[in-house]
Amino acid sequence: MADERGFFRLDGRVAIVTGGGQSVGEGIARRLTAAGARVCIFDINAEAARRVASELNGHAVAGDVSVPADVERCVRETEQQLGPVDIVVNNAGIVGKNDYIWNVTKEDMEKVLAVNLIGPFLFCRAVIPRMLERGYGRIVNVASIAGKEGNPRMIPYSSSKAALIGMTKALAKEVAGRGDITINAISPAVIQTKILEQVSQETIDYMVSRIPLGRTCKIEEVAALVHYLVSEEASFCTGQCYDISGGRATY
Ligand SMILES: NC(=O)c1ccc[n+]([C@@H]2O[C@H](COP(=O)([O-])OP(=O)(O)OC[C@H]3O[C@@H](n4cnc5c(N)ncnc54)[C@H](O)[C@@H]3O)[C@@H](O)[C@H]2O)c1
Repeated sequence: MADERGFFRLDGRVAIVTGGGQSVGEGIARRLTAAGARVCIFDINAEAARRVASELNGHAVAGDVSVPADVERCVRETEQQLGPVDIVVNNAGIVGKNDYIWNVTKEDMEKVLAVNLIGPFLFCRAVIPRMLERGYGRIVNVASIAGKEGNPRMIPYSSSKAALIGMTKALAKEVAGRGDITINAISPAVIQTKILEQVSQETIDYMVSRIPLGRTCKIEEVAALVHYLVSEEASFCTGQCYDISGGRATY
């Protein structure tokens, strides 16, 4: 809340950032820490999680967002090490198979849905009962413009992000009015990160060509939006998908 040091402070708040070991997740973790939060970095890459957590004086948990036991362990450890969880940013995600649908297998589809949809589902399921007990919580699900507009040759990814937006809207209504708990999604367009190594140049060119601002998004821009949404001040914003696509989204 606003205090003598300024607005959007997160002092005393505890956050989990999934996929916080690099790129967007790392940027979000840095921003939330700078605002006063204590952050648990959860990542399948143990070394990356440890590196970021030690720089931020946070806590690292290595695990896979699609494995229920890993998610429960993360929440338990965060509570023990840092305190009750106020904020969860479901950021971990993969692109998966980047090809025409006739080349996409059922396993390709399931793999992407497991990380991009089931992962956030598991984290929400684990923390929401505790947030309801305490009457406070902020959840941000990192979706994608692909989930709103649909990117060709990205069927698993686009489908998973559209489903994540749907889950966000439904869940926000389930908890609405039961304390100060908000659940939102964001839909970035292309951000220059390592995830693009999973995408063909043809698809990257397609995505960038559709951004009216004519450039890619910066990690810091995404982190700033997430920071606002997890602040106490954003208490009237819930069940939404916030666009951060340089004007690409048309609805
Ligand atoms: N970069 C973009 O252009 C872009 C655009 C829109 C949305 N997004 C979304 O932003 C989020 C972050 O993307 P990024 O560009 O930083 O990607 P990235 O690949 O650079 O980083 C993803 C992080 O998630 C971790 N991770 C992957 N699978 C995991 C799992 N199963 N369990 C735990 N951790 C796992 C990775 O180890 C990595 O640290 C993703 O959800 C992505 O879909 C990215």
